[in-house]
Amino acid sequence: MNEDIKLTYHVTTFGCQMNAHDSEKLRGVLEAEGYVETDSERADIVIYNTCTIRENADQKIYGRLGRLNNYKKSNPDMIIGLCGCMMQQKEVAEKIKNSYPFVDLVFGTHNISDFKNLLNRVTESRKRVFEFGSEDNSDLYEGLPTKRKYSFKSGVNIMYGCNNFCTYCIVPYVRGREYSRLPNDILEEVKRLADDGVIEIMLLGQNVNSYGKTLDEPVSFAKLLSDVCRVPGIERVRFMTSHPKDLSDELIDVMAGEEKVCRHLHLPVQSGSTAILKKMNRIYTKESYLALEEKIRSRIPDMALTTDIIVGFPGETDADFEETIDVCRKVEYDSAFTFIYSPRTGTPAAKMPDKVPDEVCHERFDRLLKLVQDKAAIRAKLIEGATLPVLIEDKNREEGLVTGRLSNNSTVHLPGDESLIGQIVDVNLKECRGFYYFGEMV
Ligand code: 5AD
Ligand code: SF4
Repeated sequence: MNEDIKLTYHVTTFGCQMNAHDSEKLRGVLEAEGYVETDSERADIVIYNTCTIRENADQKIYGRLGRLNNYKKSNPDMIIGLCGCMMQQKEVAEKIKNSYPFVDLVFGTHNISDFKNLLNRVTESRKRVFEFGSEDNSDLYEGLPTKRKYSFKSGVNIMYGCNNFCTYCIVPYVRGREYSRLPNDILEEVKRLADDGVIEIMLLGQNVNSYGKTLDEPVSFAKLLSDVCRVPGIERVRFMTSHPKDLSDELIDVMAGEEKVCRHLHLPVQSGSTAILKKMNRIYTKESYLALEEKIRSRIPDMALTTDIIVGFPGETDADFEETIDVCRKVEYDSAFTFIYSPRTGTPAAKMPDKVPDEVCHERFDRLLKLVQDKAAIRAKLIEGATLPVLIEDKNREEGLVTGRLSNNSTVHLPGDESLIGQIVDVNLKECRGFYYFGEMV
């Protein structure tokens, strides 16, 4: 590439933390190739790293592609690339191939390690490239350059894929089989990041609690977590996502005993009805979930608990939904992501009978949302007035303010300047404003 003409790129990420982390690799490769990042999608190369968890995730991508096409009309050399979970589905890739001729590059979730070559094939030939590889190149992926969004915090993949096959979920089909990285490789990566100034690590996997079970020398997630806390320079450790069926007492012990483990546990319940949980293939009951939650809250009272809930799963009756309401009343989540069930082609639930009518779904959704918001507001108020450590992450849009996070993942705004970014400072949480706090450094 001609060094004098700096071509620009933009990567837009949809979906979860895993995708956000993959996007850092895409950026790393683009930077290494000499492209320069720009804030706008009016760039020479635009990559959409897509999500397909629900139907509306797909719709969002199709909607935005029209806009990219318009940008391309004023910059015909522009390269438009699509990757991520949505592209891993054959019918989607076909549709893009046939109906979106302005898209130059499409690749799957297992092809990120080959991104550089794929991109070069497009730039050199100006032909469209579609590539979907197999699952066996994860090790190559680890060696890719990375451009982190934040200098002081980073995600680290500890495992790939998912073997749970919850009946509503498309992830096992698009992300492939579960595969754990070796503990030493993970720890080496964490050490490198710490040497590079990272103080907060987010360990990433679809189901971190089953980490290490299939390794030749099995190792538990709890052991890995405590080893990560031992890495010099690391101040905070988070992890995402936990499946209630695999959450061990050993892990609760590590979380309770290790101050560096953040006071936030995301523990998706999905439904409060044991009958629906069975149809979802979640392998726990309402009672066992509540018992687990009680065990965690009694051992670690300041642990924020958050969850994911699906309403309107096929066959969900009013009585089933009341069980979900009951769980939310009892647990009082610090926050909850609520979703209306969205059938995904190829998953078992998409073929299940007794679809719940849209109006019923929306009524239930609204009722649930009101309850989780009310409970979250009560929980948030509990620490108003306390002084707690905050990792300052960003400048605020409002002049003279910065924004950071508590160990429990809540957001705090406070007076301060850019020099604080990346530091952990003690902040008095003067005022709880619904879901965030306004504070002052002490
Ligand atoms: N419909 C609605 N919500 C879903 N989720 C996963 N699959 C679906 C689906 N088909 C939700 C689950 C999961 C979160 C990431 O997305 O609650 O935990
Ligand atoms: Fe979306 Fe799931 Fe893929 Fe994450 S793993 S991007 S939530 S489909």
